[in-house]
Amino acid sequence: MMRHCVVIGNPIAHSKSPIIHHEFARQLGLDVCYARQFCPNDVESFKAVVDAFFHGGGVGANVTLPFKETAFELCQSTGELSDFARTAGAVNTLAIKDGKLYGDNTDGRGLVADLLTKGVSLNGKNIAILGAGGATRGAILPLLQAGVNSIAIFNRTLAKAQNLVDIFTPFTTNQHVFAESLTAQELTGYFDVIINATSAGTTGQTVGFDNADITTDVAYDMMYGKQTEFLSHFSHFATTHDGMGMLIHQALLSFELWHGADISRVDLALVKNALLAN
Ligand code: ATR
Repeated sequence: MMRHCVVIGNPIAHSKSPIIHHEFARQLGLDVCYARQFCPNDVESFKAVVDAFFHGGGVGANVTLPFKETAFELCQSTGELSDFARTAGAVNTLAIKDGKLYGDNTDGRGLVADLLTKGVSLNGKNIAILGAGGATRGAILPLLQAGVNSIAIFNRTLAKAQNLVDIFTPFTTNQHVFAESLTAQELTGYFDVIINATSAGTTGQTVGFDNADITTDVAYDMMYGKQTEFLSHFSHFATTHDGMGMLIHQALLSFELWHGADISRVDLALVKNALLAN
């Protein structure tokens, strides 16, 4: 039987998620119809869209900008949340579990899965993450669970980084999470992996990495499809990756939750090809 899924967002017309999910389904021999669902940017509309989708027999919904926090609040008040969604304060994956709305967040686990797939070990490593918004918040618990030794959160607004330190310190086991200021002058130190989770690239702003004294082996930008200032800078002395793999892996984890599929059988290279061809 056809299994219906959607991604809800605003804007949504250019979402690549249908391409990714249809390629997983093709490879695993499942009948999946994955559509893009526009939604006006208000809470009532979002609730109505989610309600109509699941009442209409939908199996799973992804949630993207600007609704991840709205979806979190909806699950918090009327359904259930995974630990990842609860600590992230955001939901990117909705399903019905035991008759109730269930919210998960696969973004951070997608990042970790992509790094591990690329052969980047995280166990015992020191990580720097730039930015302290939703993207960073979603990544911290999965990184801690991957066994990192420390996470330095660099942010322009130091108080937001400190807030994340306060939220996640209870989840550490002999690990350190600390806040640092993000200005080119204060960006110093050596880290095994540096992750860019700021939105500076999307808005065309610059951080000024050329004046920074921060070094790494691996630089990972959560954005994809764009040669950001971050990637250009670190490509001179580190291995760099954009966020395409994270996008694929977060989708893979949603797919597994909804369809109970054996995602280890998915050929990721073919998924990348499908993405690049569309
Ligand atoms: P997301 O959900 O993608 O993480 P967000 O919650 O708006 O988006 O967070 C954006 C992050 O990028 C913030 O940490 C922001 O820094 P502030 O907390 O100081 O606002 C960071 N950011 C955006 N533009 C930046 C810039 N030009 N330089 C440095 N950091 C920037």
